[in-house]
Amino acid sequence: MLSEKMVQSLNEQINREMYSAYLYMSMSSYSSFIGLKGFANWFMVQYHEEMLHAMKIYEYIQRQGGQPILKALSAPPEAFKSMLDMFEQTLTHEQFITRSINDLTELAIAEKDHATQIFLQWYITEQIEEENNDNDIIAQLKLIKNNTQGLMMLDRELSARMTTVPTDFSKGVEAAMKGTGA
Ligand SMILES: [Fe+2]
Ligand SMILES: [Fe+2]
Repeated sequence: MLSEKMVQSLNEQINREMYSAYLYMSMSSYSSFIGLKGFANWFMVQYHEEMLHAMKIYEYIQRQGGQPILKALSAPPEAFKSMLDMFEQTLTHEQFITRSINDLTELAIAEKDHATQIFLQWYITEQIEEENNDNDIIAQLKLIKNNTQGLMMLDRELSARMTTVPTDFSKGVEAAMKGTGA
C-alpha cells in the first residue's frame, strides 16, 4: 500500500521518464537529420531504455493498488549546437533525474516505505551507468573537437549499440523482462 503522496510522486517520475524518452527521441531525430545515423541509433536505443523506466514505475504503482496518472509532456529541444552540446544536455538531464530518484528515496525512507525503497534501488544503480555512459562520450567528443573524421568514427561506434531492454509491455513489464538481461 502506497501513501497518497508516494503515488503522486511516482506519477511525477513516470512523467520525467517519459520526457526523457521524448528528449532522446528528439535528439535521435536531429542526429538523423544532419546525417549522423550512429548517434541517431544510440539515442533511439536510449529512448527504449527510458520507456522501460517509465513502464516499471507504472506497473509498480498498479501492483501496489494505485492508479498511474499520465500528465502532459513538455516539448523537447529540436536543434542542438553540436554533438558535444547534445551530450552535455543529456548529462545535465540525467543528473536532474538522479536528484529526483534521490528525492523519491528520501520520501520512501521518511515514510518507512521499505517496498518502494527496494524498488528504487534499481534506478539508483541505473543512474550511475547512464551518467557514466554520457561522461565517456563527452570525453571522446572533447578529444574529437571539430575533427570530422573523428566524429564519423564515433558515429560508426555508436551505430553498434543494440536495444537490450524489452519494448513490448502488453503483457506487463515483469513478463517482458523475463529472458532479458534488463
Ligand atoms: Fe530514466
Ligand atoms: Fe536516463
